[in-house]
Amino acid sequence: MKANDIKKIACIGSGLIGNSWALNFAIKGYEVNVYDINMQQLDSAKALISSNMDFLVSKDVLTKEQALEAHKTINYMTNLAEAVGDVQFIQESGPENYAIKQEILATIEEKTSKDTIFASSTSGLLINEIAKNAKHSERCLGAHPYNPVHLIPLVELAKGSNTSDEVLKCSFDFYQSIGKEPIILQKEALGFIANRLQVALYREAVDLVIRGVCSVEDVDKAALFGPGLRFGILGPNMIFQLGGGAHGIKGLLNHVGPSAELWLADMADWKKWPAGWQEKSQDGVNQAMVNRPHELGNTTEEIARYRNDMLVDLLKLHKKL
Ligand SMILES: NC(=O)c1ccc[n+]([C@@H]2O[C@H](COP(=O)([O-])OP(=O)(O)OC[C@H]3O[C@@H](n4cnc5c(N)ncnc54)[C@H](O)[C@@H]3O)[C@@H](O)[C@H]2O)c1
Repeated sequence: MKANDIKKIACIGSGLIGNSWALNFAIKGYEVNVYDINMQQLDSAKALISSNMDFLVSKDVLTKEQALEAHKTINYMTNLAEAVGDVQFIQESGPENYAIKQEILATIEEKTSKDTIFASSTSGLLINEIAKNAKHSERCLGAHPYNPVHLIPLVELAKGSNTSDEVLKCSFDFYQSIGKEPIILQKEALGFIANRLQVALYREAVDLVIRGVCSVEDVDKAALFGPGLRFGILGPNMIFQLGGGAHGIKGLLNHVGPSAELWLADMADWKKWPAGWQEKSQDGVNQAMVNRPHELGNTTEEIARYRNDMLVDLLKLHKKL
């Protein structure tokens, strides 16, 4: 199958990730079947899709007419067999649990053509294990998005040992054709790529607070107003390329590398979260939320709105919206 053979998609699970995928596919012109286990969950997915669609209209990403058209292409259903019967691509975003994902896949196998691609949004489960009972494990792959899926372009594609090259290529081309930035993991890595990067930075952020070097609020300021601004534009290697001036990244590593090795030797390498960090981080974040200027948001909802506003502006600069 080729990417342009994909005409209709099923989103299995309509929670945080599933409803955002459904919106994403619908605004790119695909008909989407959204499945969940009950109407109550589908109703809340529908309400979220509607408010996210309104947000995109308010930011001139979509016209009202385009939003209306996209709404019409989404079918909400509680019958899994019906949801997957006539689609060429399945984006599974059910609970992060092997037994449930295996059961979903078993039903899918009975009801779809063997060419229908099964892409799991799993954050950390192994595709080999999800597909271990599958008759057609060659059509299964991991396709890990980032929240909010309809705004963040990255999709990390993970192959199982049986995933066919054709399925991988078709999925890669498909995501790329709808404006995502797919990357393929060349080998299995727990947490994929981006979550490992996030957690590596976060471990050091935690450690600096625990050591008493700075507060939760200040470590966030250091990340945001320092390297974070550049991370919104370039990746870490390209940032260092510029940091080396005419000598490039190689020159930078020769110049500052020995000094950075002293920092590396002093940096956190623990493997378990420090005791009490959950409470300490929440207290610190609560204080930082109170301290924020009102126009930047003081509640989780207001800050999420602020983030989404900024994300849209940034994505427009990246020509991703
Ligand atoms: N939350 C994140 O930031 C994030 C990011 C990337 C990937 N993921 C992955 O996406 C998947 C979904 O995560 P989420 O955060 O949307 O979870 P969620 O709890 O918000 O949504 C899960 C949905 O699955 C539905 N469900 C329950 N049983 C089901 C079944 N048998 N068949 C189909 N659907 C069923 C639930 O009703 C719910 O709507 C997980 O695999 C998760 O690891 C999550």
